[in-house]
Amino acid sequence: MSEREVKSLEEIFEARIARDEKIEAKDWMPEKYRLTHIRQISQHAHSEIVGMLPEANWITRAPSLRRKVALLAKIQDEGGHGLYLYSAAETLGISREEMYEQLHTGVAKYSSIFNYPAVTWADMGTVGWLVDGAAIINQVALMGASYGPYSRAMVRICKEESFHQRQGYEILLTLCNGTPEQKEMAQDALNRWWWPSLMMFGPKDADSPNTEQSVKWKLKRKTNDELRQQFIDQTVPQADILGLTIPDPKLKWNPETKQYDWGEIDWNEFWQVVKGQGPCNKHRVEARKTAWEKGTWVRDAAMAYAEKQENKVIKEAI
Ligand code: 3HC
Repeated sequence: MSEREVKSLEEIFEARIARDEKIEAKDWMPEKYRLTHIRQISQHAHSEIVGMLPEANWITRAPSLRRKVALLAKIQDEGGHGLYLYSAAETLGISREEMYEQLHTGVAKYSSIFNYPAVTWADMGTVGWLVDGAAIINQVALMGASYGPYSRAMVRICKEESFHQRQGYEILLTLCNGTPEQKEMAQDALNRWWWPSLMMFGPKDADSPNTEQSVKWKLKRKTNDELRQQFIDQTVPQADILGLTIPDPKLKWNPETKQYDWGEIDWNEFWQVVKGQGPCNKHRVEARKTAWEKGTWVRDAAMAYAEKQENKVIKEAI
């Protein structure tokens, strides 16, 4: 294809983005647009799947059958979100096997938040409240993303995330209205999860190599800092209702900006965790590799059955 032809295709593509049109799998798109989406969507999918691990640890320890059922439903939803997102990434030409290989070899990232341990039952409430709460803020914005399959996957995911956030907040409401020890357990969990939840939104815009282009392509409809601030402004009043203290002495309502002023994230900790040096990174990747290896027979059986069914259909059609 000549340079002139590529240039005119790029102009048509940019005009479509400007008109807020959805780009579909079979449409022409710049190679960098395709690769950026494969990177973000596959890492989003990995986050959903790895995010099941800290919660799975609490299924057998849930304090009641009702809590166990809600946690099981949430974890099952997360697995479904992962499959949705892997399927959306596959529309861009990467295979499921390639994506898993990238996760297992550390080439692909997943959200830093899942590299922290869930040490008490209050963590299950806090993960639902803060982690899924942050995910909702991020994912509602992604419903407006320019790539059709990604934006459509978000519609159902966001509906289910709202249940996840509510069930977590209800766990904390119960604990905060319980014994002093239960309230202390909730405060301890908030102290450990607050700052890692703010890190979920990524580095500061000024330190983000991808945000500027992702905003231009309407993959990101809001920047990392904008979404983080939105999360803080929405979450602080919820902590007040619980009677819990956000572990940030600089947190203060600013009547001029109508937003909360707040302290500073430990960016050294963030990058350490992103680079694989977090409390649970090794354990999480090992768990995923083991599940992949132990699940080989399930995949083989499913593929063999599908092939048998396909051959049967072909035979009947002849
Ligand atoms: N954890 C791990 N890596 C992170 C990160 C985080 N919290 N934040 C940023 N990074 C990585 C980026 O992947 C990028 O590295 P890469 O280029 O090698 O991929 C690098 O740090 C620079 O960050 P940028 O901000 O420039 O990167 P992005 O433009 O990709 O923005 C993002 C990062 C905001 C996480 C964006 O990728 C995004 O919105 N992703 C979709 C949402 C998502 O993945 N959420 C994760 C949580 S899913 C979840 O919580 C499930 C729920 O059900 C509980």
